[in-house]
Amino acid sequence: MSALQNQASERLIVQEVSPRDGLQIEPSWVPTEDKIALIDGLSQAGFTRIEAGSFVSPKAIPALRDGDEVFRRIARKDGVIYVALIPNVKGAERALLAGADELNMVMSASQTHNRANMRMSCEASLAGFSDIVALARGVDDVSLNATVATAFGCPFEGRIDEDRVMRIVDDYLQLGITGISLADTTGMANPRQVARIVGRVLKRLPAAALTLHFHNTRGLGLVNVLAAYEAGARRFDAALGGLGGCPFAPGASGNICTEDLVNLCEETGIETGIDLPLLIGMSRKLPALLGHEVPGQLAKAGRNCDLHPIPAALQTAVEKTSPAHSQ
Ligand code: COA
Ligand code: ZN
Repeated sequence: MSALQNQASERLIVQEVSPRDGLQIEPSWVPTEDKIALIDGLSQAGFTRIEAGSFVSPKAIPALRDGDEVFRRIARKDGVIYVALIPNVKGAERALLAGADELNMVMSASQTHNRANMRMSCEASLAGFSDIVALARGVDDVSLNATVATAFGCPFEGRIDEDRVMRIVDDYLQLGITGISLADTTGMANPRQVARIVGRVLKRLPAAALTLHFHNTRGLGLVNVLAAYEAGARRFDAALGGLGGCPFAPGASGNICTEDLVNLCEETGIETGIDLPLLIGMSRKLPALLGHEVPGQLAKAGRNCDLHPIPAALQTAVEKTSPAHSQ
């Protein structure tokens, strides 16, 4: 029996990131009402974690400049953690004011990508995180997560030293940050590398504290999920329709697609608690909302169990050979 089958009863947690990673790269403006409706729909689909927006410079990411209003107006569902991505102390202050349940700080393992994305060195990012931890200490019920972006490869620097990724994880933990995400910002990860890195990180923190964030840029997104799952990871970011990408990483494209991931889980007996038909219905509305097709495949193909009618010509032949006819 494979490791996957052994662990098949262990739930996989999907953190839905379409409202943040998905929408941040969209060229046309998605009205605040539609963002709220998207998040409210996701809240009904069984997610326990939704990254509902970011509190970054509106000049850097104009598409998400209404994060404050979005967070204030969503219909919060009990048991759902609404996460806000933040780059700095100003972002933390805004997110806390808007009522975010969790702050997700982001820094890249690659200095070059951090400068392109955050306009600062990794050292400056880390110093800011230390201030954010101090700020959050005075706030009840807010949890802290930090992401190592470009952890599996950088579009400017190429391969990233795995020891460096471990040092950043250790730095985050030492600051008192309890949740860690490893992000493959431009889909450069491969399954063997993923298994190795997940194995090393899980020596430092429990699976419940680790999130893997894969993009399907090179078609390896779900393969990497399986590799990470078999190595013990249990929480994964994914975006409805396979939307997403970092505007400051050349060639970036969609996150792994949530409904494709949930389908993989259903077909392999891994529980997610997510309502797949509801999700497919939501995904099919994305092209009208965004004005373009989306990369996800399940919403186009349907689930394995969504069978098609037998062609009429075959139907007669089937009837003739069926046991009822031969009697
Ligand atoms: N929210 C809102 N405004 C912010 C902000 C935040 N979190 N952080 C900075 N600003 C504003 C400043 O107030 C300032 O405004 P002004 O020009 O009106 O005075 C302006 O942005 C520039 O501030 P500065 O601190 O000099 O930032 P910068 O221009 O060096 O940019 C970041 C640094 C981190 C704010 C910016 O690069 C950023 O937001 N990056 C995030 C990119 C992102 O979201 N990538 C995808 C997700 S990983
Ligand atoms: Zn991403």
